[in-house]
Amino acid sequence: MSENTERAVIRGLKDVAAAETRISFVEPMGALYYLGYNIDDLVGRVVYAEVAFLMIHKRLPNRRELDEFNTNLISEMKLPDRIVESIRSTPKNCHPMDVLRTEVSRLGECDPEDNDLSEAANLRRATRLIARVPTIVATIHRSRMDKPVPAPREDFGFAENFLYMFNGSRPDEAQTDVLHRLMILQADHGFNASTFAARVTASTNSDMYSAVTSAIGTLKGPLHGGAGEKVMEMLDDIGLEEHVEEYIQGLLGENKKIMGFGHRVYKAEDPRTKHLRGIVRNLCTRERTMSLCNKCSKIEKIVHDRKKIYPNLDFYAAVAMDALGVPKEFFTPLFASSRISGWVAHVIEQYEDAVLLRPSSKYVGEFGRTFVRIEQR
Ligand code: CMC
Repeated sequence: MSENTERAVIRGLKDVAAAETRISFVEPMGALYYLGYNIDDLVGRVVYAEVAFLMIHKRLPNRRELDEFNTNLISEMKLPDRIVESIRSTPKNCHPMDVLRTEVSRLGECDPEDNDLSEAANLRRATRLIARVPTIVATIHRSRMDKPVPAPREDFGFAENFLYMFNGSRPDEAQTDVLHRLMILQADHGFNASTFAARVTASTNSDMYSAVTSAIGTLKGPLHGGAGEKVMEMLDDIGLEEHVEEYIQGLLGENKKIMGFGHRVYKAEDPRTKHLRGIVRNLCTRERTMSLCNKCSKIEKIVHDRKKIYPNLDFYAAVAMDALGVPKEFFTPLFASSRISGWVAHVIEQYEDAVLLRPSSKYVGEFGRTFVRIEQR
């Protein structure tokens, strides 16, 4: 009894290393590595499919392998009819993250190799999930507008197909480039909460769909991936640029959190921010994007002056997604459409580690309460 009550608690598991990983490294002073590559060396030089390949195969593909992977992803983008029907019958007022969570779970029912838990089958399953999460997101969006989803085209790249299916029209080169950069930056991030949730589920030897379903539910929260939607709510709520100062100082004065700021690991600027800031500045030819960017710059300065904290991924990603024509309730689903490559890589790594993730707790409740039968209570 005493052993349990005297146990030290690491609140929020802060700085606790729960397992070893080779997939990504979040360097507190502001760097991020995917399988040993600094993201600064990848962004703008590779396409998202290359990073997705890197995540699950642990090395960058050569040209032939990338072409094959791209073709494979595109052929796997088609959803089982049951999933499409289910999305179409979902009430339009459901949050897209709720629908995504349900439909990824349903994908598990439609798995063609349900009983095969071999390494090779898991790799095929991972590829299918990387391909299908974006299609589910596009299908949710199109069906909310009562519009059909165009079938993926073999002559388009994977990310290009995603935007094509989501918006219903072929993206131009600049839009496709933004999506590649965004999806690369969102692909993985150490033991963030959703990845950890996926790994906990996988550690029980549960299946990959269950692990990804856990991850989606975790990503949804506003302290994690749900922050992007809140950032856009705030930017819209601020209204005119000249209201930024009063609005943000007001929130800070009430000790409220500014969405899209702060980070558990980084003690310096999030290394993804400079890329995203650059992306949105290039998109400032649009009046709305220009106004959002101006508000963001002002907010950055005020929050840094008062709290010495920096924007995280979700701050400028919100503006980038807005510029791509993505409605704010789809920011987190789009995040999930990229993070799926990291999640499945971690699930596979967790299967290899083969250890149950099961922490202990410090019991602070009562002992020795007198039991009273229900008739006497
Ligand atoms: N606005 C204002 N103050 C903040 C913020 C913020 N966004 N974030 C942290 N702080 C302050 C906090 O008030 C505390 O100050 P003090 O020591 O004076 O009480 C200090 O910084 C430490 O904050 P914390 O909440 O204890 O730190 P944490 O490591 O537990 O939380 C966090 C990290 C990301 C949950 C937090 O920064 C936060 O809530 N941010 C807003 C939500 C957000 O943007 N989430 C996205 C996270 S990154 C991308 C992703 O995973 O999707």
